[in-house]
Amino acid sequence: MSPSDVRQATASSPLPAAPAPEEHAHPLLFLRRWAAHPLRMGSVMPSSPALCRRLVRLAWPDPGRAVLELGAGTGVISAALLAAGLAPERLVLNEIDPDLVALLRRRFPAVTVIEGDARTLAERLPERLRGRIGSVICGIPLVLLPFAEQQSFLDAIARIAPGRGFLHYSYCATSPLPARRHGLEAHRAAWTPLNLPPASVWQYRRAA
Ligand SMILES: C[S@@+](CC[C@H](N)C(=O)[O-])C[C@H]1O[C@@H](n2cnc3c(N)ncnc32)[C@H](O)[C@@H]1O
Repeated sequence: MSPSDVRQATASSPLPAAPAPEEHAHPLLFLRRWAAHPLRMGSVMPSSPALCRRLVRLAWPDPGRAVLELGAGTGVISAALLAAGLAPERLVLNEIDPDLVALLRRRFPAVTVIEGDARTLAERLPERLRGRIGSVICGIPLVLLPFAEQQSFLDAIARIAPGRGFLHYSYCATSPLPARRHGLEAHRAAWTPLNLPPASVWQYRRAA
């Protein structure tokens, strides 16, 4: 589109606004994947726009760095990051469910989408992204896992983004991870009642 096309579109028929994340939440697909793998999905519906907004604010990376989303689901947080202006090449999505991976690749053709278990992601991260991950959002329902399995996810995150910590959203009233036992410091950075169920965003960092 040329600059004059843009001017015309703005003057007569406005250019379409960036889609609101909730327009493409795909709740039925999400519910079907939950029915197939309830513990792995951990929730019956995608994160709400209110939760996505909080995550966008907290995860916004330093210039030149990328955001990694583990357990991207139907892509509501990813869409919110892009709608807020994050360049697609600065977003990396990981998802274990092949049906959801196919959807993410259709929705976000310019975004790197890596299929498979987050625990083996470090080895599969493209060269151009190594050492460039500025923030990690983890949507994988870690609270439902035994301690040793939780630890294997935490080790993987530390390999991918050393020293950066990570954000983790959860429906628990208290920290979904036993932070001290994992050697982490936990901080509840946000909470919203506008999610089903109400959700908190926890920020974890290696304890000093
Ligand atoms: C609670 S849903 C979050 C979906 C989405 N981020 C949202 O906010 O609506 C958890 C997601 O983590 C994915 N997941 C679970 N275990 C995983 C693993 N080991 N590696 C990668 N993704 C995983 C599930 O398939 C599911 O899409």
